Amino acid sequence: MAGAGTSGGRDSSPAGVLERCRELVRPALVDAVGRLHPWTGEMAAYALGWADTAGQPDPGGSEGKGVRQALAVLGAEAVGADGADAVPGAVAVELVHTFSLLHDDIMDADTLRRQRPAVWKAYGTGPAVLTGDALLAQAVASLAETQGRHTAAAVRLLCRTLNALVSGQAQDLRFEHRPWSGPGAVAPEQYRSMAEHKTGSLLGCAIALGAVLGGAPDRTVTALDRAGRHLGLAFQAVDDILGIWGDPAVTGKPVHADLRQGKKTYPVLAALAGDSRAARELGALLDSGRTDGGTAEHIAALVDEAGGRSATRDEARRHLETARRALGEAPLRHTAARELDALFTHLLDRTW
Ligand code: IPE
Ligand code: MG
Ligand code: MG
Repeated sequence: MAGAGTSGGRDSSPAGVLERCRELVRPALVDAVGRLHPWTGEMAAYALGWADTAGQPDPGGSEGKGVRQALAVLGAEAVGADGADAVPGAVAVELVHTFSLLHDDIMDADTLRRQRPAVWKAYGTGPAVLTGDALLAQAVASLAETQGRHTAAAVRLLCRTLNALVSGQAQDLRFEHRPWSGPGAVAPEQYRSMAEHKTGSLLGCAIALGAVLGGAPDRTVTALDRAGRHLGLAFQAVDDILGIWGDPAVTGKPVHADLRQGKKTYPVLAALAGDSRAARELGALLDSGRTDGGTAEHIAALVDEAGGRSATRDEARRHLETARRALGEAPLRHTAARELDALFTHLLDRTW
């Protein structure tokens, strides 16, 4: 949305919102990480981009965008509460996000995250698994220990989300072994279910947690959760595009890793659904199981030629519009709603 500029001295641009929310949440996040066992705390600080492997401040480290904490804060503000009410929820979703990436890189055998070696590469798989566990336990503790009026509902929502996230990861991993074509192939609706669980559930939870902690009625919480889920579906579609055509210097992640792992990503599934020469050649190549460097490059070109990239952009745009509509249908405070809407759009601008 245009016009998300400055209002009443408040910087409503996406960058301004992300920064403001980061500053608001940081002390509680630092405190939460400080409660971990010192060894897991050191690895968590590395994963969060706060330190290098020697425990020193890392100029090359990236904290990530901080999207989830911002969604939680805006979720509370959008229902008329103070952003500070959302801080325990914001901490919880940032810790869950960090835990999930840490374990995800082990599951996906990805060696690079945010331009640096993944935690399992830097410290070993056992220590990385343990650090993920520590972050997960602390995420639940951070929320459960707030003892506010809405704590129980917030913890229930977080736990439901954790189960959904595990289901999504299970679908993602199981899909690796499914064929590219024939009766066992992954259908678009099955892909969407996987993406909604693995990515959408935590984004929905982030906004909804803010609203729950802000005392919103169930209907509003449900609408915000739905908006976040569709944002997640759009986000995952973009992530799938970046995994094939992104520049590792920008994404900080390896390119073609999804192709090598046999991940059932939207661009490839959409390309295979066509009936062009490129689609048929792509199907034959994928069935051959070859994914070495040169072949991966050729597969990427065929996916593009068969329309997979543009179909995925359309998919992302559709879900972004659904997410924005879901926001529009909830009775929200104007400024925070506008900031949420602008943030949604900004997050999807990262490919085109
Ligand atoms: C990650 O999905 C989802 C979770 C961490 C739950 P992906 O495996 O597609 O994400 P990236 O590309 O590694 O970030
Ligand atoms: Mg991954
Ligand atoms: Mg994964």
